[in-house]
This record gives sequence, structure tokens and C-alpha cells, in this order.
Amino acid sequence: MSKHLKPRPFLKWAGGKTQLVKQLLLRTPPQFNNYFEPFVGGGALFFALFREGKIKKAHLADLNSELIDTYRTIRDDVEALIGRLSEYKHDKEVFYEVRALDPNEMALVERAARMIYLNKTCYNGLYRVNLKGKFNVPFGSYKSPKICDTENLRAVSQALSNVEIECTPFEHSLNKAKKGDFVYFDPPYEPISKTSNFTSYQPGGFDKQGQHQLQQICHRLTKQNTWFMLSNSSAKLIHELYDDESFVPHPVKAKRAINSNAKKRGKLTELIVTNYETGLVEA
Ligand SMILES: C[S@@+](CC[C@H](N)C(=O)[O-])C[C@H]1O[C@@H](n2cnc3c(N)ncnc32)[C@H](O)[C@@H]1O
Repeated sequence: MSKHLKPRPFLKWAGGKTQLVKQLLLRTPPQFNNYFEPFVGGGALFFALFREGKIKKAHLADLNSELIDTYRTIRDDVEALIGRLSEYKHDKEVFYEVRALDPNEMALVERAARMIYLNKTCYNGLYRVNLKGKFNVPFGSYKSPKICDTENLRAVSQALSNVEIECTPFEHSLNKAKKGDFVYFDPPYEPISKTSNFTSYQPGGFDKQGQHQLQQICHRLTKQNTWFMLSNSSAKLIHELYDDESFVPHPVKAKRAINSNAKKRGKLTELIVTNYETGLVEA
């Protein structure tokens, strides 16, 4: 893959790791074969590793089918997407018309264009659906959002050209991971308090059972000498699950919205866990 491209996440994503990406990069294995990201979301680490020329072959997955269709459309049909997206206007009425469309009844290019358009123009630029799976974020207050970032979409398309992209639950996306490969897990965070619960990316959310299942997979990967790095909150359950001699905890400070008001940001401790030493002296 070419090193000259500078692709960046094409969506703003809840729990996106742009804030933490430097800390994550410092803790990735110096060398690895294939890269796997089963909770890809906006893909902040994937794109950062790509910009550093560290991705040879990659497998990206997520349970969100609209998101995965958008990745695939950018990979396979970027010019048609750019054409469609550049027709969209930044206008409140258009926003609500587009929001009301049913993505399941749209062709792939239309569907991907709708997702990017809503993400660029909605309140806080996030993706959120209600229990029926309908996108329900109101119109945002951006003055002139860049709805169609042609240069970045083309760079993303090239970065994805050799990438397998799957819509599947995390426990099914690692069948091909082998010795010497690297997996980055960024699951929905375990809430640190009842009020900080932001795990509903999908109707159904991600519960404690999911966190337990993920830890089992981390043990399996460790046994077969596949590297992994995981990020999560510093909730008690996460400390307990990864308190094991096979794992190395790395507490880090991250800027986060600490309640529903995104403007009230504070620094929270989050946990990165690896199954290898990084050589860093952690605080
Ligand atoms: C914290 S976000 C990942 C953010 C990403 N690292 C970024 O930089 O934008 C978690 C992602 O996990 C996905 N997800 C939730 N439950 C899942 C599951 N059971 N299997 C696979 N993906 C899941 C969500 O759709 C969401 O995109």
C-alpha cells in the first residue's frame, strides 16, 4: 500500500479514538503481519497506522451495517459516491427530508451518501439510532460543514483497496488471525457509572457478557501468539477481567465528554491493555 496517502476518518464516530491515537500508536507492536479491527467505527487507529505505512493487509469489521456498507462503497465506488454527495445542500429542510428516508430501501451509493451527509450536518456530528434503528439526531449548528471531502474520500478509497470489510459480530471476525498478526479491539466502553452509559451504538447495546466474551478471545489470541491491544474505560469490571499475568495494563488520560453535554469535557483515565510489553514506563 502507498505511504503517500493521508487518509483520515471520513465520519465522526461516538467513541472515536482520534483523541487517543497518539497513545495507541506508542503502544502498537513494532512489527506485525495482518491487521484486524473488529469494532472499526470511524477507524481512527487504522487510518493512523496506514499513514505511517504500517498496514500490509487489513480486515475491518463492525456490527453496524450502514457503516460497513459505507466503507465498502468508498472502497468500490468512490467516484459515484462523490458525485452524489456533492449534490447535497446544507439546509435544515433537506436534512430532515434525507433523515426521513429509509436507508434499507436505498441503493448502496445513495445509502452511503445519506450516512455521510447526516453525519456531517447533524448535531455534534454523531451517529445515533433509536430502538427501531432509525437515525434520530437533530440538525446541527455547523456554519459550513465540508459535506463532500473529495480528496479524503479518494485517499480512503485507496487505503481500503486491499482491505476485507465485514459486517459481523466481533466473535466471528477473527477466524483468519494468526501468529504475528495484530488485533486492535475498541469495543463499546463498559460504563463507569450508571449515568455515563453510552453503549447503545446498536439497539441492544453491548453488555457485561460481551466484555467477558471479549476477554476469552483475548486469552485465545495470546495462546496462539497473536498480538492484541484493547481500549476500554477504567471500570472495575475491566480491571478485573484483564488482571492477569498474560496481560499488560496501560492507564492513560483521555479527553472525554463526561456527561450528556459534549461541551463539558474532562480528562478521564482509560485503560489500554496489551498482551506484550511496549517498553514504555507507565505512570
Ligand atoms: C468505541 S466504537 C469504535 C470506535 C473506533 N475505534 C473509532 O476510532 O471510531 C465501538 C464500535 O463497536 C461496534 N459494535 C458494537 N457492538 C458490536 C459487536 N457485538 N460486534 C462488532 N462490533 C460492534 C459499534 O457499532 C461501534 O462502531
